[in-house]
Amino acid sequence: MTTPSPYTFVLFGATGDLSLRKVLPALFRAFCTGELAEVGNILAVARSPMDAQAYHAWCEQHVRAHIKSDVWDEAQWKRFLATIDYMPLDLGRKAEFDTLAERLAKREGVRIFYLATGPSLFIPICEGLHSAKLNENGRIVLEKPLGHDLASSVAINDAVGAIFREDQIYRIDHYLGKEAVQNLLALRFGNAIFEPMWRRDLIESIQITIAEELGVEGRGEFYEQTGALRDMVQNHLLQLLAIVAMEPPFSMDADAVRDEKLRVLRSLRALDDDTVARNVVRGQYGAGAIGKTAVPAYTDEPGVPADSQTETFVALKVEIDNWRWAGVPFFLRTGKRLGERVAEIVVNYRATPYPLLGEATAHAGANRLVIRLQPNESMRLYCLAKQPGEGMNLQSVHLDLAFDQFFKGHRMDAYERLLLDVIHGRLALFVRRDEQEQAWRWVAPIQAYWARQHKGPKRYAAGTWGPPAASALLAQYGTCWVEEDN
Ligand code: BG6
Repeated sequence: MTTPSPYTFVLFGATGDLSLRKVLPALFRAFCTGELAEVGNILAVARSPMDAQAYHAWCEQHVRAHIKSDVWDEAQWKRFLATIDYMPLDLGRKAEFDTLAERLAKREGVRIFYLATGPSLFIPICEGLHSAKLNENGRIVLEKPLGHDLASSVAINDAVGAIFREDQIYRIDHYLGKEAVQNLLALRFGNAIFEPMWRRDLIESIQITIAEELGVEGRGEFYEQTGALRDMVQNHLLQLLAIVAMEPPFSMDADAVRDEKLRVLRSLRALDDDTVARNVVRGQYGAGAIGKTAVPAYTDEPGVPADSQTETFVALKVEIDNWRWAGVPFFLRTGKRLGERVAEIVVNYRATPYPLLGEATAHAGANRLVIRLQPNESMRLYCLAKQPGEGMNLQSVHLDLAFDQFFKGHRMDAYERLLLDVIHGRLALFVRRDEQEQAWRWVAPIQAYWARQHKGPKRYAAGTWGPPAASALLAQYGTCWVEEDN
């Protein structure tokens, strides 16, 4: 544990959904484990006029419910609230940023400006900070979505970049803060045995799935403008893909790691209308059931128009044109209201050179490595073994590694890790501008193609694994999605 230097955490959008669900609970967890030390304090900023006491009451009412009972501690909560001050701020009045500067002048240490607001407020907030000269030594944290396409993301990056240097900008992709994603780096670069198996010579295909059971959870209006491509593919899925496929960086420094991820994003084979039509499937959930609970169709969610064409599911085939991965298809999929909440990476190994021990060895995927990111972080390696008894009959068996059996105790959640990294000034787990823009550049032909189509997404029943077209996509390449029983 590193003791942080003094800091003030200025939380813009302090009464919004993100603050109450993610940011404040994560700060509280870090406070309880002592990682925030005594040297930091929080200044919550939002439009509503109220004082610190009223904000504390608001936290009691709204934030408490999002803190898991196993970390709940009444006495710590009281102490945590005592570190939070509140300031109302009207973004339309630049002079209010001078008041903010006066309040911050009394506090020593680094200033962190966390923008838990919609992206339309990023530029006005940065300009306000600039006008009060608060940009000089501060760090700025930006939440996704950073724009809705390449042009809008370039516009935000240009405006923020005119005020803050790139090394002051922390673009959050919370998947990078997940323990399991860190573990993927440990698996690949901390063990000599995996590296020789991590290439086209032995790997037939790779699948990456982020499936959710949840629907849009009251965020229909937001989601309607976003859709799964912008919400999950452009960021979380492409970042996971980059970590799975990147070359070993020469060091674990932020830029060395980010350079390698960028190289993967640059090596993605560009899409055109034909390849989008053939290799990208979009879906939207209809009514169905999650477990035994009936759930409504996406178009019946509050804030969603009945004729919505927004996708809640995307499956796609991606090729990486580089020495290591040429010819290895990567199949990615993500969706809401699917059969199970699971995020995993499935590495299918090639078949044996010829079926010496019979047909069972002649299929790709008999050797398979399944890295489960959530829930129940684990790794499973499938092999073929001889069934006891007469003859040479092979059967699939697996080696299992469940991480929670080895590591007991406190596990950091993604936001907790990322917020501590901001406080400590560690940039490695944040997305650099060029990576982010490259990801937008790559998805642009999908956005353009869909915008020209009259036919919208294909329907799937809530609680299933997406539209049949997602299975047909893999069938074209002679394979199928792997759905593990765990
Ligand atoms: C967010 C998306 O970035 O990630 C949400 O905006 C999604 O729509 C969430 O539900 C999934 O995150 P996790 O950590 O629950 O897998």
